This record gives sequence, structure tokens and C-alpha cells, in this order.
Amino acid sequence: MIKTSRNLRIHEPSFIPQFIDQGNSSKVYRISDNLAAKVLYRRDKNDNPFLRNDSNAISLLLHEESIARECIKNKIAVPNPTGILKIPIEGRIYLAYLMRFIEGVPIWRYSKVSDLFEREIEKASEIFNIGDYKGNGIWCPSEKKVYLIDFQSGSVKSKNS
Ligand SMILES: Nc1ncnc2c1ncn2[C@@H]1O[C@H](COP(=O)(O)OP(=O)(O)OP(=O)(O)O)[C@@H](O)[C@H]1O
Ligand SMILES: [Mg+2]
Repeated sequence: MIKTSRNLRIHEPSFIPQFIDQGNSSKVYRISDNLAAKVLYRRDKNDNPFLRNDSNAISLLLHEESIARECIKNKIAVPNPTGILKIPIEGRIYLAYLMRFIEGVPIWRYSKVSDLFEREIEKASEIFNIGDYKGNGIWCPSEKKVYLIDFQSGSVKSKNS
């Protein structure tokens, strides 16, 4: 069955979603002690960002979730996926990819652990066409571990390639 936004349940955040950071296509919020929510955005003709709820957004989020699940199976460090759900942000409901909140620093702000990052990317490259993957990691100092994030453009390699 194809998932549509209508049959997704609404997840009530434990507190008012706190904006963590954004990339070129997503904004990420902390919605509980342990959970982060990634919501896609676009820009209107005046360059103002707006959060997305369109049917493409759900496909992109589902794709990212499926790659994250594949990573977990293959012992590649990624924030554990919870699923695609709806969450309220500033009074409106949006589609979001929920995953474990990682307490840390984005890799592009902390280059000292680039070797750990590269090692994780190498592992991931064995099973994915990972594409341009600059900066998509989080250094978690308490675990001394780099987590890979953001698999919108990756694709799983076929078993015999
Ligand atoms: N699970 C998480 N826990 C904590 N912070 C996170 C998590 N996921 C993402 N972030 C933060 O949000 C930022 C943006 O996330 P992400 O890279 O997935 O967005 P994007 O818009 O898809 O990026 P890009 O510009 O590479 O397309 C990250 O750099 C990181 O700081
Ligand atoms: Mg990114």
C-alpha cells in the first residue's frame, strides 16, 4: 500500500518543537529528549522558506527512512529511524521524518573527526551509491562516534553490482 499523508498518524511532541538546524532542503527540530523531526522546505518566489506537505515530500522522506533502515541493518551509524509521521509546528501539521536526536556537532563545524567520518562513509559506500555527501554527519562527543545523516539522494546498490 502506498502511504499517503492521510493515513499517517499525528505525533504529539513532548515539548514545543525546538529548531535545531537546517540544510538546503530540510529543517530539523527537536521534539522530545530523544527525538528529532526532519521537515522538508522550499522557497517561494520572494525566497521565503515554507515547510512542505506535498506528495513528493512524503516520497523523499520515505526514501530517506528506507536508506536509514538499510544502514542500521548493515551496522552503519545513523540516527535510529522512528518513521514518517505528522507533527504540529507553529499551529500547523507537517509531514516529518522522525529519528533519534543526536546530541552533537555537525561535521562541517568540527573537522577534527573527519577521519572517523570518512571511515563511516567508506562503510556506507559498500552498500550505497552515496553521491555527494559533504558535511552530512554529526559528531557525538559523549559516544565518541560520528553518525551519518541525510540520505535523500543516496540509493541502495543492487546486490550483484
Ligand atoms: N538526528 C539529528 N539529531 C540532531 N541534529 C540533526 C539530526 N538530523 C539533522 N540534524 C541537524 O540538522 C541539519 C540539517 O539536516 P540535513 O543535513 O538532514 O538537512 P538537508 O536540508 O537535507 O541538508 P542538505 O543541505 O545537505 O540537503 C544537520 O546539519 C544537523 O545539524
Ligand atoms: Mg544535509
